Amino acid sequence: MKSNKNRKLNKFKLEIDILDFCNLNCDLCARGIPLQKDKRFTYYNEIEEISKIIKPYEFNTIKIGGGEPTMHPEFSKICQNLKRLFPAKSYYLATNGFKLENFLDEIKVFDTIELSQYPGKNDEVFDKIAEMNLSNVIPVRKEDYTELEDIYRENNLNKKNIYNRCIYKEVTHIVGGRIYPCCNIFGQAMRQNIDLNNISVLADENWRENLKKIDIETYCRRCFVKVPSYFNIALYKTLIGTGRFIKQNIRPLKKYIFKNQIKRQIKKTNASNKNI
Ligand SMILES: C[S@@+](CC[C@H](N)C(=O)[O-])C[C@H]1O[C@@H](n2cnc3c(N)ncnc32)[C@H](O)[C@@H]1O
Ligand code: SF4
Ligand code: SF4
Repeated sequence: MKSNKNRKLNKFKLEIDILDFCNLNCDLCARGIPLQKDKRFTYYNEIEEISKIIKPYEFNTIKIGGGEPTMHPEFSKICQNLKRLFPAKSYYLATNGFKLENFLDEIKVFDTIELSQYPGKNDEVFDKIAEMNLSNVIPVRKEDYTELEDIYRENNLNKKNIYNRCIYKEVTHIVGGRIYPCCNIFGQAMRQNIDLNNISVLADENWRENLKKIDIETYCRRCFVKVPSYFNIALYKTLIGTGRFIKQNIRPLKKYIFKNQIKRQIKKTNASNKNI
């Protein structure tokens, strides 16, 4: 294995797939679920063990996915204990909506629920949940399959610095209790028969160092995920930077001006009340 100790580990998002089973069989499944042979649940006690090797706030966001997470027999218990097990800034769930209605209380733990539509497969349940207007549900509407990424179209063989350009490295991924350096490499491995031991590490106290040892660029070249150009990355970073600037500077300034306007208004009203 080629060592890559200088590679930084991304601490933006940790995605935990709690099972490999699904009620659907999507042709373009990014996780390769329909191709996966050794399906299993990651049970609560195993998730609890994993939580011990992740430091509180090591990741900004914790995302629960799968397979279809609502099919997990301990989904309630996982939701109820999620914040305690994995202290983080925000919590996400990815679901196709199956059985979601049974967990309306439990899913309040998630700041964001990405409800995926797979045309012709889950339209009815998708529409039903979307119409409930739950405050944390974001329906990701896909009217047809052209709106989903075609994970078979073109590999990255002729591109350079793929890992550096790929946005999916922002997500560290746990599947079947093992840790992967991005959220798509597991799905790619399913389609290309890659040995999972070469692209993932044991969930133990050495996972950070071991993850850096994976020669990921080799797998990025075989990967079918589109990587943006450096120009688009720069544009994206500028937009994020501008958004952050507005949030940190312009909004507080607006609030400050607004507060002072209100204060002046109250003073004026009090003064005119005294004159009556
Ligand atoms: C693999 S799914 C697992 C969770 C759940 N079963 C679902 O489908 O939402 C995780 C995420 O991958 C996304 N995804 C799956 N296949 C995709 C594709 N071909 N193109 C774009 N996104 C995809 C889904 O929208 C979802 O947010
Ligand atoms: S619903 Fe999600 S996990 Fe299931 S097959 Fe479709 S994309 Fe894959
Ligand atoms: S394997 Fe694919 S998804 Fe993962 S970092 Fe490389 S290019 Fe991105």
